[in-house]
Amino acid sequence: MSTKKSSGRGQRDLRVKVKSARGRKLSSTLWLERQLNDPYVKRAREEGYRGRAAFKILELDEKFRFLVPGARVVDLGCAPGGWCQVAVKRVNALGEKSGKKIGTVLGVDLQEVEPIAGAETHQLDFMEDDADQKVKDWLGGEADVVMSDMAAASSGHKQTDHLRIIALCEAAAYLAFDVLTPGGTFVAKVLAGGAEGDLQKLLKQKFEKVVNVKPPASRSDSSEKFVVATGFRG
Ligand SMILES: C[S@@+](CC[C@H](N)C(=O)[O-])C[C@H]1O[C@@H](n2cnc3c(N)ncnc32)[C@H](O)[C@@H]1O
Repeated sequence: MSTKKSSGRGQRDLRVKVKSARGRKLSSTLWLERQLNDPYVKRAREEGYRGRAAFKILELDEKFRFLVPGARVVDLGCAPGGWCQVAVKRVNALGEKSGKKIGTVLGVDLQEVEPIAGAETHQLDFMEDDADQKVKDWLGGEADVVMSDMAAASSGHKQTDHLRIIALCEAAAYLAFDVLTPGGTFVAKVLAGGAEGDLQKLLKQKFEKVVNVKPPASRSDSSEKFVVATGFRG
């Protein structure tokens, strides 16, 4: 690994360059280089977040303000836990903001999640039969926010990945229709690719406003975007 010196002015270019190593694929070298040079990865480390994804929900919340003190949040596909960490702080799940309402955060993921103070997490495949019933039982009532960052591991086939993520997003939306309180918010990751139109139509029937957003923390070379539906009609 080295930092490159830029030519001419004697100034250091602080971009980290990773040398290829025997046994390491080029794609891994490029991934490592991108991680080491990504300002969001650095910020996540400095601010104690479990991943750069935390900044996506922070930026979406800056814009739409759904993670308010007292909110009850369901986070689908929550591992390793960056979104939960943001939600815990913003909804005041630990009661740290005195005089403000105390919220709750329930996270589920296919993978095991390291415990997060202030959040309840469960390992669950949200696509298995009765998964939504399990989430409803854990929730034990209504939610103000249902958010999903679920993404299946890439198959390498763009269209397949797109259809899979839409299926995850639709499953999350159906849970939202069942548990959201009137006025509630639904946020979900989608990939641009064509099939998201039907989901948009459905969301538009159920929510007052539906928009697609690509927060700055979402990498520009990724087709990922987020649908934010606010004002659940109940
Ligand atoms: C991009 S990561 C989520 C990152 C998370 N928002 C954070 O801030 O740490 C996507 C997650 O979706 C999860 N996932 C994919 N399919 C799922 C499914 N069927 N049920 C539950 N979780 C799923 C993956 O295990 C993965 O942890």
